[in-house]
Amino acid sequence: MKVLIGYLQYFPEKGNLRSNIEKVNELTKNNEFQILVLPELAFSGYFYTSVQEIRPFIDIGFESPPAVFLKKLSKSKNALILSGFPEGARGHIYNSQYAFFPNGEVRVYRKSHLFYKEKLVFAKGDSGPVLVNYMGVNVGMMVCFDWFFPEFARVLALKGAHVLALSANLVLPGLGQKGMVVRSIENRVFSVLSNRTGMEASSSGERLTFTGMSQITNERGDIITQSDESVEEVKIAEIETDEAENKWVTPLNNIIEDRRVDFYREILDG
Ligand code: ACM
Repeated sequence: MKVLIGYLQYFPEKGNLRSNIEKVNELTKNNEFQILVLPELAFSGYFYTSVQEIRPFIDIGFESPPAVFLKKLSKSKNALILSGFPEGARGHIYNSQYAFFPNGEVRVYRKSHLFYKEKLVFAKGDSGPVLVNYMGVNVGMMVCFDWFFPEFARVLALKGAHVLALSANLVLPGLGQKGMVVRSIENRVFSVLSNRTGMEASSSGERLTFTGMSQITNERGDIITQSDESVEEVKIAEIETDEAENKWVTPLNNIIEDRRVDFYREILDG
């Protein structure tokens, strides 16, 4: 199955939902795609260090201005759109990713591996790995620091992912970009990394700089499309998802069948 898949990279303004929605609307206006990935916490901004600060931006039940906008965008583009957002549910705040389908369906994945001061604000995700299917394409949902844990991407691949869709706000220079190339190679899947750019300060003045360099990687680990560290843009690539179903790396090596799971028991110990 051939599919046009892409990412959006930009510099969201912390706490300015209206301006961020306008920017995303402008950046997506002239692009055609079937699947689009936006960054982590794509409209609220990232560096909140208390529940109080992030409260005005929490989305409960997909009624927030960004959710209403993304629902409309998904319909008008006839595309699956994935984006990070702060989710309020069950008395907790989760660092989540939602997937909007053109038919109005919404699926949610809650970030499993919290990074740095996210631990002061968010609850650890309880959804487990989520795979969504759109037009025959299996998309594995991931949020930023999840990339660091190869077991997580492996589980998505074992569930049948053709593509890993990572909504990110990466700050450790180069690591997530290299990591996602490896996640693609070791699972023979495509990956889309949507990262943000720019700098953001916490309320105490601590600064984080985000590394951009969003990328699309094929199942052999070739980066087929990449942005630089600061540009704001949408980039699209056509991929053939059948290629992610072929797990043979030589005529005698299938990377799923060749696993020695009897030697991997420690992975399941806490
Ligand atoms: C991250 O998980 N935002 C690095």
